[in-house]
Amino acid sequence: MAKAYSCVVSLPPYPEISQLSRQEAHRKAAHRPPYYIHKWWARRTGSVFRGILLDQLLPDGESRMAAAARAHDFNDTIVLDCFHGGGTTIGEALRLGCKVIGSELNPVAHFLVAQMVRDLDETRLDAAFATVRTAAQTKLRRMYATRCPVCEKDAQIQYTSWTKQVTCEACGDPADLLTSHVVMADFANPGGGLVQCPKCAHPWRAKKVAARVQCPCCRHRFVPNKRLIEPKRYRCTCGYKGEILDALAIGSNPPGHRMACLVTHCEDCGRGFKAPDAGDLRRYARLEGRAARQLDQLAVPRDEIPGGRNTNQMLRYGYRHWHEMFNARQLLGLDILVRAVRDVGDDPAARDALALHLSSTLEFHSMFATSKGLGTGAIRQVFSHHAFIPAKAPLEAHLWGVGTASGGSSGGFASLYGTRMKAALRWKEGPQESTIVDGTRVRAAVAGEKLAARPASSFDDLVDGSADVLLLNQSSSSLPQVPDGTVDLCVTDPPYADNVMYAELSDYFYVWLRELIPHHPSFQDVLVDDSQEAVQNPHRGRDGDAYGRLLGDVFIEVARVLKDDGRLAFTFHHANQGTWRHLCDALILAGFVVERWWPVFAEMESAMPILGKEHNGHLDIVFICAKRGVVTCPAPQDSIACMGEKLAGADLPMVASDHRALLNAKRIQTSSFEACSETGLVHVQALRANDADTWG
Ligand SMILES: C[S@@+](CC[C@H](N)C(=O)[O-])C[C@H]1O[C@@H](n2cnc3c(N)ncnc32)[C@H](O)[C@@H]1O
Ligand SMILES: [Zn+2]
Ligand SMILES: [Zn+2]
Ligand SMILES: [Zn+2]
Repeated sequence: MAKAYSCVVSLPPYPEISQLSRQEAHRKAAHRPPYYIHKWWARRTGSVFRGILLDQLLPDGESRMAAAARAHDFNDTIVLDCFHGGGTTIGEALRLGCKVIGSELNPVAHFLVAQMVRDLDETRLDAAFATVRTAAQTKLRRMYATRCPVCEKDAQIQYTSWTKQVTCEACGDPADLLTSHVVMADFANPGGGLVQCPKCAHPWRAKKVAARVQCPCCRHRFVPNKRLIEPKRYRCTCGYKGEILDALAIGSNPPGHRMACLVTHCEDCGRGFKAPDAGDLRRYARLEGRAARQLDQLAVPRDEIPGGRNTNQMLRYGYRHWHEMFNARQLLGLDILVRAVRDVGDDPAARDALALHLSSTLEFHSMFATSKGLGTGAIRQVFSHHAFIPAKAPLEAHLWGVGTASGGSSGGFASLYGTRMKAALRWKEGPQESTIVDGTRVRAAVAGEKLAARPASSFDDLVDGSADVLLLNQSSSSLPQVPDGTVDLCVTDPPYADNVMYAELSDYFYVWLRELIPHHPSFQDVLVDDSQEAVQNPHRGRDGDAYGRLLGDVFIEVARVLKDDGRLAFTFHHANQGTWRHLCDALILAGFVVERWWPVFAEMESAMPILGKEHNGHLDIVFICAKRGVVTCPAPQDSIACMGEKLAGADLPMVASDHRALLNAKRIQTSSFEACSETGLVHVQALRANDADTWG
């Protein structure tokens, strides 16, 4: 890359990039479908990474916004992402024609991105999908057989609503953890919902769930959305009230479930609702018996769930093994699909793509999935928050999917193949981009651009032009495959301390991928090895200092592989001052100075819904760092006040925590330059040793 860096550089159009990012954050998958063929947590938007890359790659003075809408070919530039996660930087850098190195510790993310960039033959993938259909569809449909509540003919159960139960400490009977009589909200009828009569169990679509309704079947009157239990307590029909965790502590098993309500799909009548009848209960009991008898032979993960920040919550609920998160029908159905995908014969590329696809559908298919509502994708996925939250009212979806592909069935293997996989393939052939022209957002295909990459098996493959992307599944604290001083740009998104426990959460998929692709070198351990994971997770023996050290180790390695005039660019945000300090230390230790920084809109995802707390803020800081000595002073840039004004002009007013983030960015920049001189470095180190500065 022959770009002459000067000290006077203007900032990229961060208000416009922020507007695009906010637009994208609402429907990320629709904007860049290939990146979303599988769950990954805490992804930043593609607009931000395209913005960072173009800002670094284009000559000064050229309009960044106009350039975002055109194709480019920076084929003599090597870009590294040392924390590639779901692969946003990888995808964007490949689209711009760069040679790319991606390194990632987590095998699930590594496998995901390998499938994402692969040049798949759609005809062969469809053929492989057809063999899975032949092997699985009929068997799966048999497991969801029911009678249509309207015409009484054969129908399919599209969704099953379950109610979690605990054993009452007083009488020993199962007690429902039913929170209200609303089964699902109704998006087609705001304020309304699918409700179920507490007396006769008849379900119907009520216009208002907040008002008293009368059951059309038994005439019982009730208010559907009236809260029935307090969040952490249960109430038994015997009159006893107790703590859920106390009731669970008595047994050694996870809680049971009562089949509460069915949403049916009939070829003639369409959608229907019913309480399970005797036939439904009998058929399900048979499946339960079969799953219990055959458990040892099923192609499902039976390993123990390890302790951790996220897993402790379900361990307290009595879940000890991964398979216990699924009900009998889910286990039997997944066994059929796992075998069908494994048997995809002589086309490893198609088999791997379908293995990832099946893993991806798991988000919709355990008893940790709940209801989003009628008239939208009905299932709220397992990871709607960065956590494993045992659901009081799980919603089980048809594993294959019924009805039309789009909108017919939420989370079905076949439905998602149509909506996710095919959409991803189409987009890769003709990626689209949004830009802002004269204040208006314009979305169009980028003529001449494609997302397709030839995988490299070594660094040399990138240099001699025979390949485009080298993907490494290892800790980026050691990248022996990459020679010293060879990388032009490192563009990345590091873990933000304790924000997401990637390894803990990804084990949910890892244990199934191990069943699906048992010979893959990345899936030879029992669980994800997180010993080198740069996160703050005291439950796994890593505190904030350990996070800072691991982050520093990776930055030191990045400094080794970067060319002298190369740049490290990354996004960051955290509510805790101590975490900013860890970041600052890591950069200084690795010999970086912050040449520039700018704010950008980022969707703040969180582990749990935070109610009533101070607004989290919505800005990430983009840091652009150079090697110490190459750049000797910060580039002139907008003041914090000016940034606030510009963002407010883009309808993104800053809140107090955003302001703190900007102040922290400025402070890290100053500290990084203070560390440039011999005495400055000693001074900064002394400050840190004495904890005498005011970070906390
Ligand atoms: C914030 S995510 C990256 C998200 C990504 N930008 C995306 O769009 O999905 C950070 C990633 O760093 C990975 N990671 C953590 N420690 C690592 C290490 N020592 N080496 C490499 N990757 C690591 C995590 O597994 C996680 O996927
Ligand atoms: Zn019917
Ligand atoms: Zn009781
Ligand atoms: Zn009734």
